[in-house]
Amino acid sequence: MLDPRRAAVDARLEGVKRIVAVTGGKGGIGKSFVSSALALASARAGRATGLLDLDFTSPSDHVILGFETGFPTEEFGIDPADHHGIRCMSIAHFAGDAPVPMRGDDVTNALLELLAITRWKELDLLVIDMPPGIGDAALDAMRLLGRAEYVVVAGSSRVVLESVRRTVRLLQDVRVPILGIVENMRRKEDDGVRRLAEAQGLPVLGTVDFDETLEDALGDLDRLAATTAVRSLAAALLPVVFPAGR
Ligand SMILES: Nc1ncnc2c1ncn2[C@@H]1O[C@H](COP(=O)(O)OP(=O)(O)OP(=O)(O)O)[C@@H](O)[C@H]1O
Ligand SMILES: [Mg+2]
Repeated sequence: MLDPRRAAVDARLEGVKRIVAVTGGKGGIGKSFVSSALALASARAGRATGLLDLDFTSPSDHVILGFETGFPTEEFGIDPADHHGIRCMSIAHFAGDAPVPMRGDDVTNALLELLAITRWKELDLLVIDMPPGIGDAALDAMRLLGRAEYVVVAGSSRVVLESVRRTVRLLQDVRVPILGIVENMRRKEDDGVRRLAEAQGLPVLGTVDFDETLEDALGDLDRLAATTAVRSLAAALLPVVFPAGR
């Protein structure tokens, strides 16, 4: 049966010019960092920006950017909280500190609900911090966010590369557009990510070195924006997301 919420999701995203979904093979590889940093850089570049944290297991964008997770304002839908120019929405707004154990249909319903009630209004960019892995949540999110373009976060460890390869294969199999790969937390010269990208026919959009100063800057937007990690991420992604003249 056709779920009326599906149409509602499309309607809610109508005013969003571009949807960039950040994914990656492994947990802890920096998906939330890349999502949050891209949203921060985009907002600071004067673009109307939204950030949606779809990680139901361990939402983290509110920790990285330091936004409050009180229950959002509700009127014919839910308005994402404006955090210094970034409209933020996270499952943490509803769950607070509590864990959110969900399986099967619960995940699909929660996703549909969140996407169907959030009023993004006009946005130049909506960044999605995708659910980790390629389970129900990630697959449903891919299905529901039909217009999304993907950025894949990778690292040079062989363990990471193995799972990134699978993620890229999945994205290619379902024929969603992939903008390219970002190498994150690089500690030494290594061309594993470049070789993987070449083999898959994808560009490496940029490389972000491991940044010792990042941890202390979490939650403080000015400090965060000044870190080498956020600056290199911005230099890698902003020209791709907002090519000259767009
Ligand atoms: N370039 C970097 N330099 C230093 N620390 C980093 C960098 N990128 C991310 N981190 C740190 O690494 C940890 C994991 O990053 P993050 O939470 O973004 O990963 P994730 O892929 O979203 O993980 P999960 O799958 O659990 O959601 C965080 O503590 C984050 O602050
Ligand atoms: Mg995360």
